[in-house]
Amino acid sequence: MTLNKTMPNTQFLKACNLQTTDHTPIWLMRQAGRYMKEYQAVRKHVKFLDLCKNPELCAEVTLTAREKLSVDAAIIFSDILLIANTLGLEVVFKEPGGPSIINPVRSVKDIDLFKAPDVLNDLSYVFEALKITRKSLPTDISLIGFAGAPFTLACYIIEGGSSTNYNLTKQLMLGDKEFAHKLLTILTDITITYLNEQVKNGADTIQLFDSWVGILSSHNFKELVLPYLIKIRNSMDKSIPFIYFGNGASHLYTQIKNINATVYSIDWRMDLDTAWDILGHDTAIQGNLDPSILLTDFKTIKSEVELIFKLINFRPGFIFNLGHGILPKTPFDNVKYLVDLVHSISK
Ligand code: CP3
Repeated sequence: MTLNKTMPNTQFLKACNLQTTDHTPIWLMRQAGRYMKEYQAVRKHVKFLDLCKNPELCAEVTLTAREKLSVDAAIIFSDILLIANTLGLEVVFKEPGGPSIINPVRSVKDIDLFKAPDVLNDLSYVFEALKITRKSLPTDISLIGFAGAPFTLACYIIEGGSSTNYNLTKQLMLGDKEFAHKLLTILTDITITYLNEQVKNGADTIQLFDSWVGILSSHNFKELVLPYLIKIRNSMDKSIPFIYFGNGASHLYTQIKNINATVYSIDWRMDLDTAWDILGHDTAIQGNLDPSILLTDFKTIKSEVELIFKLINFRPGFIFNLGHGILPKTPFDNVKYLVDLVHSISK
């Protein structure tokens, strides 16, 4: 399938490729979610996992969020943890309470119990959702596919859910490198198949979410994690923009630039101009508004947006986004105000 060959050069894709654009493109991590009443309405009748496994509904949620916000890209509605199913791991989403893995992985023996992965079949609902979404999406809007990065997936798979510090993950992975490499190798291989299949089904861009990588020291990141990120990057067609989001990872930027991503998505902790200097001006940057700014008011949002534009001085290769996902309590009007403001200031 060559869906993306027929796709035009969107403002978003141009920015990924460091080309000048008519306006600064913007989309927001977690742009479809609980802060939006349309999403809440869908979730009233459908459990989160059932929603993720229903391609038509996923497409609807993806398209509705994109349209309501007038953002420059849609991100397919899904979750990074669904891929664990293909290894025979059972993921549930508790309400409230978040994700939980019924059979967490804590030893080489547990890894040996994995089922043989069949990504194409086990995650066919994601590929179907991408196909449906692409068909209905305006041609000047990009469609982003995504996956969790191997280390972040390992965090959830080992702990069995969210954790405040992921100490068990570090204990097991740093204490037993054979276990760590065995797990990361398997997660890397299924991620490669998963991402490439998303591209075949209509994703014109890929984002890798590494939400927990920031807990690692620079030398452990370099030895244990970086080679797998490079392997994933090198498995992808270079004409498809590859976005790497490392959360809390500014201390790793000198290592991270070796991934050779098209775009680095940065959090809010380091100012944009400093981050760009370290990551290199030959790559595009995405981010870095603190998501809590969207809990405040129009005036505060405006001054933060103006500061970001001042720091980048309208340099090409910038995609406006948050430093992490939209927080559930965020007022919709603040999000819409942000998008419209970014478009109007940069036109
Ligand atoms: O960005 C988007 O709009 C696309 C959808 C998307 C979701 N999850 C939907 C979701 C994306 C890109 C993700 C990625 C994801 N999932 C990450 C990486 C980014 C990050 O936030 O760090 C992680 C770590 C997960 C795992 C996960 N999924 C957690 C920890 C939780 C519970 C906490 C939370 O934020 O709600 C989820 C559930 C989840 N994934 C929801 C949504 C909309 C909320 C489900 C609901 O209650 O309706």
